[in-house]
Amino acid sequence: VSLRQLNTFHVPARARLLAEVADAAALPELLAHPDFAASRPLVLGGGSNLLFVSDPVQPLLMLTGTTVQVLPDVDGCAIVRAAAGVAWHDFVLATVDQGMGGLENLALIPGTVGAAPIQNIGAYGVEVCEFIHAVEAYEPAAGEWCRLSADACRFGYRDSLFKQQPDRFIVTAVEFALPRPHVPRLRYAGLLEALGRQGADGAPTPREIAEAVIAIRRSKLPDAAVIGNAGSFFKNPIVDRMTAEALGADHPALPVFPGPDPSTRKLSAAWLIDACGWKGHRDGDAGVAASHALVLVNHGTATGQQLLELARGISTSVRERFNVALEPEPRLVGATW
Ligand code: EPU
Repeated sequence: VSLRQLNTFHVPARARLLAEVADAAALPELLAHPDFAASRPLVLGGGSNLLFVSDPVQPLLMLTGTTVQVLPDVDGCAIVRAAAGVAWHDFVLATVDQGMGGLENLALIPGTVGAAPIQNIGAYGVEVCEFIHAVEAYEPAAGEWCRLSADACRFGYRDSLFKQQPDRFIVTAVEFALPRPHVPRLRYAGLLEALGRQGADGAPTPREIAEAVIAIRRSKLPDAAVIGNAGSFFKNPIVDRMTAEALGADHPALPVFPGPDPSTRKLSAAWLIDACGWKGHRDGDAGVAASHALVLVNHGTATGQQLLELARGISTSVRERFNVALEPEPRLVGATW
């Protein structure tokens, strides 16, 4: 099976086997089949957060169920359960249109509902873990169905139990808790600006916030339907407070954000990469977006290997100039960083 149209980098890769599963209840039977029993399958969502550096050796699995259910409220929150195969952005718009706020800052993120908890998608001041009630999954090695609370998912910045233990769980559905009433999240500076331009009066509605987020994303991030990419290629590096202060003193323009705990800070990887002169750079068809230094792009015929080599070159230059280590955000298939 060709995977070129199933990854948003649009790099060439082939899978020897790809199974589409509409009803997750069929997983135990499918995984007992000899074709699947030998190795844990690689679950493919929207293909928007991985890079095929070589052909995957495992069989591939796609969950295509798209059921969405509104369950009874819990502790003042609307509870919405969505199957793994639901397209993320469609889901955000559907909740917003039904008057349920919470996910609007995460509008236009590519991928599926099932992939959202894996890397704990985040944007414009919100991380999805803040609205996750539970994650439903199947654990093939144990032959068990599980329902993990948000705490059990060990969420962190672009991190979770699912990312720490790749392929252990197959996420089949996610339950979201969306607080009533909705509390707008407007901490991201550019968001207020974008809303201002739309002339929103009073507290903006979830729909207005979603539209502002969509406008910001369209202005900054290349559309994968036009030019292959997987969003941010690197995580924003987390360093200790002293390191951040020293770098900030040498480079006053470097954006520094709070880290996961008081002794750490998060640096802007885009700024570090931009400062090394990479924005708009091209090695053949592997390049850095002209609109955002954190986004690697495939101008047409780049391979995963070429994109990985470019990423390594970027990381080396940032380490040499700033002594800061960068780590890829997408999953690398067929290579280790
Ligand atoms: N900047 C540059 N050069 C650039 C782009 C940005 O110097 O080419 C600097 C600017 O100073 C800007 C700062 O970097 O203010 C931050 O840029 P931006 O607001 O675009 O956010 P980011 O830190 O680069 C993160 C997420 C994005 C998310 C945005 C908005 C990560 C790895 N990325 O990017 O998520 O949309 O914040 O909240 O945390 C993704 O994960 O794929 C993704 C797109």
